[in-house]
Amino acid sequence: MRKEQILIIGAGGQIGAVLTDALRSIYGPDRVIASDIRPLPDANGPSEVLNALDGEALNALVSKHKINQIYHLAAILSATGEKDPLWAWNINMTSLFNVLEVARSKGLHKVYYPSSIAVFGREANHYDTPQHEVLIPETVYGISKVAGENWANYYFRRYGTDVRSIRYPGIIGYQSMPGGGTTDYAVDIYHYAVRKEAFECFLRADTTLPMLYMPDAIRATIELMEASAEKIMVRTGYNLAGMSFTPAEIAASIQKVYPDFKISYKPDFRQKIADSWPASIDDSLARRHWGWKPEFDLDMMTKDMLKNLVLQYEGSINK
Ligand code: SER
Repeated sequence: MRKEQILIIGAGGQIGAVLTDALRSIYGPDRVIASDIRPLPDANGPSEVLNALDGEALNALVSKHKINQIYHLAAILSATGEKDPLWAWNINMTSLFNVLEVARSKGLHKVYYPSSIAVFGREANHYDTPQHEVLIPETVYGISKVAGENWANYYFRRYGTDVRSIRYPGIIGYQSMPGGGTTDYAVDIYHYAVRKEAFECFLRADTTLPMLYMPDAIRATIELMEASAEKIMVRTGYNLAGMSFTPAEIAASIQKVYPDFKISYKPDFRQKIADSWPASIDDSLARRHWGWKPEFDLDMMTKDMLKNLVLQYEGSINK
């Protein structure tokens, strides 16, 4: 069996931090090199500082650690990207080209490149949005993901580079914080609830968005990457669904555990982004091709989030 040597780019991010631990428990801590633009705290295995815009540095790192798989998770997300579109475009695309080129030139085994529900725009069907839908995104983040998916597909068809991708919905987890996304409210809200603070939401009460609990997101990613190559028949990005809910519904779910929890609404520029995204996703191809099936619904997630955040906050007080 081929020994995998995995590089994670963006290992300090919301998904990267959790995925690094999950991959280390499968492949062994020394086989997973965590990298980020900033030094990583509490690394449980080898880590490197890497600016993904520096192609030579990436090449050197791949040679040094004999890497044959890359998970490229570094990106500027939807809300932050809108503050400086050309800067966000440059980061998202240059880093992807560096990864695709190192994968092609060194013949890497596999690459993971996350896409997003941000590839869809107002022209797309709003409910049960299909896999092969018109893609006219409203954000620079979404544009970079549509382009990135197409480049992934191009490298696969032209060079045989085995790039795989999921269009993540909003990801919710207790282990790490998201940064600069439109779905971030759904993580913040749990922190406010556990701290017994009222929460002011930047989206309207009735804004339905597709979401996924972190354990499902990590499992989906690893299942996609471990599936045999012929099963991966979508080489842009797979639609993937977990659950869909509104801010009012997540608040009601929290109130089942904390009846005194209070929420108010003050929509800002992110409302327009959210309105352009689907309310629900048709992920039947992911289910059919490589067996995707989510486990968590909203109330299961709420219970697990609150339980783990309480432990985390108690731990930080007792330190
Ligand atoms: N969570 C991301 C964002 O809100 C969507 O991919 O930008």
